[in-house]
Amino acid sequence: MTQPRLLTGDRPTGKLHLGHYVGSLENRVRLQHRYECFFLVADLHMLTTKNSKEDILESAENARHLVLDSLAAGIEPERATFYVQSAIPEVCEINTFFQNLTTVPRLERIPSLKEMARDARKEEMPYGLLGYPVLQAADILCVRAHVVPVGKDNASHVEVTREIARRFNGLYGDAGEVFPIPELIIGDVPTLVGTDGQAKMSKSIGNTIFLSDDEATVRKKVSGMYTDPARIRADIPGTVEGNPVFIYHDAFNPDRAEVDDLKRRYREGTVGDVEVKQRLAEAINAFLAPMRERRAAYEADRGYVDTLLVEGTARTREEVVATVRLMRSAMGLNTSWNRIRRRAEERAKKVAS
Ligand code: TRP
Repeated sequence: MTQPRLLTGDRPTGKLHLGHYVGSLENRVRLQHRYECFFLVADLHMLTTKNSKEDILESAENARHLVLDSLAAGIEPERATFYVQSAIPEVCEINTFFQNLTTVPRLERIPSLKEMARDARKEEMPYGLLGYPVLQAADILCVRAHVVPVGKDNASHVEVTREIARRFNGLYGDAGEVFPIPELIIGDVPTLVGTDGQAKMSKSIGNTIFLSDDEATVRKKVSGMYTDPARIRADIPGTVEGNPVFIYHDAFNPDRAEVDDLKRRYREGTVGDVEVKQRLAEAINAFLAPMRERRAAYEADRGYVDTLLVEGTARTREEVVATVRLMRSAMGLNTSWNRIRRRAEERAKKVAS
């Protein structure tokens, strides 16, 4: 029985942290059995905001982190296809076709792009960044995916993808639909605050706990966490609501009785921040323990992650080549140009030999 397809992915800009786990990985782990899963390393998307040579050279190592973090979190390598976006040039070909199926004002209305431009300190919108959702549509539709699990910030990109798929089918799909209209699966979890109490856990702010942090690092980061700033002594009643230490307790400590007890005593002023944080560090370490075990096992197998990327990229490319063939033939590009294309290819081969 063939399962419906799922596609999602990340830009290779660093290691994954607790915010990624809550916001997307947990969802992926849960969904992996119901779908045939493709996970892309979106290095071309990274270029829309980070395109220095250093960033590019780091992206391969970051891609390995992405895969390893995913496996550690519970993605099963037998079920998942990991691939590198820039290693499949046909994705760019699809992107080129799709660029004509949406409009500049439509893309200019997407708030996430303006935010990305601002975060990247771009004074004016780069052409490629404006096209970010179009390239994302090429990712999603290049394997003809049925579902796309993403965070809220990407919801509008999937909406653009749906419009492009409909538009393509409407313009060219007289022999039947080329693309399924992909469904958005949105994680409705609130964004995880950073250890500093800032709205968002983010590597660029430096307020993260990585899935790959060891026990001592977790203890150190938790002990330095932002709590109720008004509470300068343990006997002053503290505020639980919106306090990052308790937000994390709620998210990662499965011992509800302990959490309730700590909250009560915190409000009364009968427990110190040190104890609340120690308990939190223990809870997070217990939460990460099975991930550390899986990570160690995968790491012991040298070259394994690279092999997964190689095989996944090769397998995905086959699918994408088939999609491009369908697209070209639906668009009439085959009928008009195939003979010339074929002759040009033969000619090139002759020149090369
Ligand atoms: N835009 C995603 C991010 O925020 C990365 C991405 C690129 C993606 N292509 C995708 C996600 C296709 C889902 C589907 O990093």
